[in-house]
Amino acid sequence: MSDLNPVQLIAAKRDGQALSDADLKAFVDAYTNGTVPDYQMSAFLMAAYLQGLCAAEAASLTEAMLASGTRIDLSAVPGTKVGKHSTGGVGDKVSLILVPLVASCGVPVAKLSGRGLGHTGGTLDKLESIPGFRTDLSVAQYRRQVIDIGGVISGQTGEVAPADKKLYALRDVTATVESIPLIAASIMSKKLAEGNDALVLDVKCGRGAFMKTEADARTLAETLVAIGAEHDTPVVAMMTNMDVPLGRAVGNWPEVREAIACLRGEHAESPLMQIVRGLAGEMIALGGAADAPTDGRAKAREVIESGAALERFRRLVDTQGGDPAVVDDPAARLDSAPVAEVHVPAGTDGYVADLDALSIGQAAVKLGAGRQTKDESVDPVAGLTALKKPGDAVSGGDVLARLHTSASSDLDAVRAAVRDAYSFSETPPEQSASVKARYTVDGWEELRDESQDGV
Ligand code: URA
Repeated sequence: MSDLNPVQLIAAKRDGQALSDADLKAFVDAYTNGTVPDYQMSAFLMAAYLQGLCAAEAASLTEAMLASGTRIDLSAVPGTKVGKHSTGGVGDKVSLILVPLVASCGVPVAKLSGRGLGHTGGTLDKLESIPGFRTDLSVAQYRRQVIDIGGVISGQTGEVAPADKKLYALRDVTATVESIPLIAASIMSKKLAEGNDALVLDVKCGRGAFMKTEADARTLAETLVAIGAEHDTPVVAMMTNMDVPLGRAVGNWPEVREAIACLRGEHAESPLMQIVRGLAGEMIALGGAADAPTDGRAKAREVIESGAALERFRRLVDTQGGDPAVVDDPAARLDSAPVAEVHVPAGTDGYVADLDALSIGQAAVKLGAGRQTKDESVDPVAGLTALKKPGDAVSGGDVLARLHTSASSDLDAVRAAVRDAYSFSETPPEQSASVKARYTVDGWEELRDESQDGV
């Protein structure tokens, strides 16, 4: 540690050299304990952003961030625990359905989730829209819940990867977030701390995702899987479509409500449920409750149809202090009335051809469903519902979306932005696959959806 020379280390990265495991560990440790100041770490991050990090450096950086905090020990929980992470999208309520679903198949799932930032939503904000729901569990409560009900979704405690917390805040203000190795190390330092034995990662790709192109999404998936392999943790990365919002609701309570509908068996062939089953199949197989992902997908259908997944969600809500009545009767939760509707332009007769996820995510933030800075609060019931989706038949005057907000100052601008997010065609558009490909240490496998009906 005493021989750490931050200036030399920054210069080496600036000049494209690979840094050793020991150097990266010493540098991250010194930054976490305050010996290395923000300005030196900022210079390093920019050098890493511009020059990239090789696979070994990304793994060392992950290890250093992971070692800065606690790695939760779930060895007291019987069975193979399988974690899940999404790189973030618009209308992404997958975890709300997936965690209880997989748990109800007998595979324990422990999940640390984040809050929404920018145009992407966060699972913690969504769950907190259920009255009473607590996301600040201690490590002991987190472990107890996995033992008792097989699933938990909580917030990242200060003990988990504190180096990532500090580094992520610095990247946010130094234009260094969008670096694939830095993103991969940040994600994996938290995921490896959760205590699971294997991981399934939803790598989103498209306009509403961090990774806009398939090439970048593939590189991120490969980097994440390689870091998992370095840490003896099997990782399956699924590349999924995020050009279009997932589901027909965007916003915190609107998404919980839609997730409950899916757990009740509605929207079974939607892209949302294709993705849920795609990830569930992998998790159930990794957890040993199915021989292969296809069998896992069949089990996922069964526990939705039997009501077991919904019942597990109810228990999860109840155990984490939420009001289980919202699961039984979602309509009883105080919804904000739609304050505005967006309509199909007069004279249009045909189909929704496309819907831009990024514009819809930004509209949801303007309605109060998301935050622009980490400290803002969110309006739990704000957002968009009844979204028409690509492939829907429409004609002039039909409702394209309903807007909900308690802060309606920019409503005209939001309505215009939502209308502009749509395009129309006379014939049904080609639908792209929701689950595009799967990557493991054995390589890529291209995938197609189970069926293409519904949206
Ligand atoms: N999510 C993370 O956890 N870290 C990143 O760097 C980007 C997305």
